[in-house]
Amino acid sequence: MTTPVIVSSAAQLRELTQSWREKGQSIGFVPTMGSLHEGHLALVEAAASETDRVVVSIFVNPLQFGAGEDFDRYPRSLTQDALALSTTSADAIFAPSVEEIYPDGPGATPTQSSGPVGLLFEGLSRPGHFDGMLTVVARLCDLVGPDRAYFGQKDAQQLFLIRHMVKQEGLPLEVVSVPTIRGVDRLALSSRNAFLSAEEHQRALAIPRALEIARGCSSADQARAQARSYVESAPGVEVDYLEIVDPETFEPCAPGTNPREGLMIVAATIGATRLIDNQVLAFGQ
Ligand code: PAF
Repeated sequence: MTTPVIVSSAAQLRELTQSWREKGQSIGFVPTMGSLHEGHLALVEAAASETDRVVVSIFVNPLQFGAGEDFDRYPRSLTQDALALSTTSADAIFAPSVEEIYPDGPGATPTQSSGPVGLLFEGLSRPGHFDGMLTVVARLCDLVGPDRAYFGQKDAQQLFLIRHMVKQEGLPLEVVSVPTIRGVDRLALSSRNAFLSAEEHQRALAIPRALEIARGCSSADQARAQARSYVESAPGVEVDYLEIVDPETFEPCAPGTNPREGLMIVAATIGATRLIDNQVLAFGQ
């Protein structure tokens, strides 16, 4: 355990990472938007178990929030985050300003394109979100120069698109995914859970319960129908989508196709808070 050093400029970060590289040390990178919870800390520990040095970035990226989304109210808590990271093996926190990441302004920055998959599901509900997310991940990876970058499986579509970008752009790093961390009540940990009232939190449990119902089903059609019926009838839960996709392509599995495996993805709004979750499903085995 070390107290991580906090750097805010790209120049300071470069100096630090260069000194590690000169000693032949590998670098693991955990990009975050802060408001850290156990899920983030699991990413840090996964990185620390596989690389010599760990950098955690904390940057609420304006480019991945649409008009009317929660950019302004997104929780920001650098002091608390630094405290949480001091209990982990993180070596450095990179907490840049918007100007440091986007010297010409976020609007003037050429964005990465998330392509057709970026227009589905989250991309359909949050236009431009994935282009902005990929843009910042590419920029941060360029600044940190990691050997490995760590992402949570909870954001399945994000993870899919990052893997695709890294492959397409030939970025010299390995993308590592880490299983979703859940509370004792099975709700997936998310920084946005902080927005839920106690009552909304109880309502949100319909999401992991729907995924649990799907796990007990013997076909994709049955899983989709039963999980949808459960979550759509849950009080105070407004379902945006609940689908089963092919994990290799992220395309929806058409009804009647009976895949042996699928990834169930779900997004729903409870009060003013939009949550996502997913579950790998195996059928007929
Ligand atoms: O998952 C997140 O917290 C963000 O989308 C990421 C990957 C840090 C990019 O801003």
